Amino acid sequence: MDEKNRIDTLNNIKIFTGNSNRALVKRVCDYLSIPVGNATVGRFPDGEIDVKVNEDVRGSDIFIIQPTCPPVNDNLTELLILIDCFKRASSARVTAVLPYYGYARKDRKDEGRVPITAKLVANLITKAGADRLLTMDLHAAQIQGFFDIPVDHLLAFPVISDYYRKKDLSNFVVVSPDVGGIKIARLYSNHLNIRLAVVDKRRYGPAETDVGFVIGDVEGRNAIIIDDLIATGGSICQAARVLKEKGAKDIYVGATHPVLCGAAAEKLANAPIKEIAVTDTIPLNEHAKSLGEKIKVLTVSNLLGEAIKRIHTNTSISSMFTEQ
Ligand code: R5P
Repeated sequence: MDEKNRIDTLNNIKIFTGNSNRALVKRVCDYLSIPVGNATVGRFPDGEIDVKVNEDVRGSDIFIIQPTCPPVNDNLTELLILIDCFKRASSARVTAVLPYYGYARKDRKDEGRVPITAKLVANLITKAGADRLLTMDLHAAQIQGFFDIPVDHLLAFPVISDYYRKKDLSNFVVVSPDVGGIKIARLYSNHLNIRLAVVDKRRYGPAETDVGFVIGDVEGRNAIIIDDLIATGGSICQAARVLKEKGAKDIYVGATHPVLCGAAAEKLANAPIKEIAVTDTIPLNEHAKSLGEKIKVLTVSNLLGEAIKRIHTNTSISSMFTEQ
């Protein structure tokens, strides 16, 4: 515990969670030197979610930390019920803290008869009674606009870039695995003072396989691929293979959210990747643990804790990323 981060508990800040990532929540509370709030989030015999808050929260500034990672529907429903519970218990303010915002990839109607689930989730969180949202590395920053309550959007880049800064970066290049990730990759490139490259995937007709091009010079260089999340591992593994074809040397990955579903861990184990740095927004599943030393988990607990402290004390959050 760090005394300088201590928040006077008389200020009435309380942090609660469901079951999605209790280890992260404990680390955030350690940063702030406050205990994890006492609530029971269990199940009725028929599987419905049963919530009981076991301490007085009247007039408190409540933060519910609950990434909506797999099992996404359970974790989302726990979050909604917790929000409802705290509103009905007369807390002063409820901030939903989603270190990982699930359903984010369904953020637009790109064909007929499909939902915009990222917006539906925003509606659910707001309607349940959240006063604010704190989140990290949204799949698309525009999702903030789905909310009519204040949203603070954190980036894990200080944590991941600090990790890679410890390597000798004299022969490195930062790579975005697709055109959509250029903005965030450029942030790393500027911060680490190394060049930027982009993998450009194209599919020539439905029967053709994907062809990968690289914009930028990677030959003879080590590469760090930066992405917001690894789900099936398809994007990262394909980008790694394209980079190898173009002559890159060792390939590293920095990704905020290790969703790692299905056979992702196996794919990553067999891909030409030396090391994968992810964060603890999501707990590693059992399959991912099989990656052993190839995967490094960095904690974002201090970033989240600091942001919570600043929301509570009405101080700037954006300066956390400009004070680097
Ligand atoms: C794409 O736009 C995203 O940034 C990720 O690259 C992608 O969603 C990762 O998914 P997967 O691991 O299934 O390829």
